[in-house]
Amino acid sequence: MDLVLKIWRQKDAEDKGKMVAYNVTDISEHMSFLEMLDVLNEQLVSSGEEPVAFDHDCREGICGMCSLYINGEAHGPDRGVTTCQLHMRMFNDGDTIFIEPFRAKAFPVIKDLVVDRSAFDRIQQAGGYISVNTSGNTQDANAIPIPKPDADEAMDAATCIGCGACVATCKNSSAMLFVGAKVSQYALLPQGKVEAKDRVMNMVNQMDKEGFGNCTNTGACEVECPKGISLTTIARMNREYLSASVTED
Ligand code: SF4
Ligand code: FES
Repeated sequence: MDLVLKIWRQKDAEDKGKMVAYNVTDISEHMSFLEMLDVLNEQLVSSGEEPVAFDHDCREGICGMCSLYINGEAHGPDRGVTTCQLHMRMFNDGDTIFIEPFRAKAFPVIKDLVVDRSAFDRIQQAGGYISVNTSGNTQDANAIPIPKPDADEAMDAATCIGCGACVATCKNSSAMLFVGAKVSQYALLPQGKVEAKDRVMNMVNQMDKEGFGNCTNTGACEVECPKGISLTTIARMNREYLSASVTED
């Protein structure tokens, strides 16, 4: 395939940035989207130009690093996949593809297609953990019976990889799906109930402090989430938050 790529280039956080057009040729339909960008970068480096900066790590849908907005969609046109799992067979010979960074006030652009998503780390640090007594008297986790539907729902919520597609997709740049997933992951399990009240209060407060917008129930985040995180996690977070606020010490 021969393609025209229109890519957001931005030297650093202060630069205004602009779309720049590039041609790539002989792209195999079996390549991943990131492999196609590797081809472009090799081409740029060999002609003495600055390669395009983009985030990636695992390249198998696990780490949540690859954060590209492709033809107006987070992680591109396929469903249930991250950008690194997106294949070039989703495109046609002669296509023009628009590639931009995830855009949200809380995710400032660092360079080209790389954004700073440390706001998510700070939300996690505010409550996305459990404290475990390791004194030697710890109860074996497997000895605590957990209803299968609760275990399944908690596991589903735990599949969130923190990629930020939900924020980039939302017209309000809301992080509610991400925070809902993190709260739900623990809210359903006995190990998470001990700190449940502080967790939801602290994580929601940090989310607001970071400048994410509010949820207006458009459901776009659920559609674009590569891990299929459900809107029901947001409903659970809201219930947890309400119950924590009315029972606040
Ligand atoms: S909820 Fe989905 S889209 Fe949002 S950060 Fe988690 S995996 Fe990514
Ligand atoms: S590079 Fe890790 S999820 Fe894409």
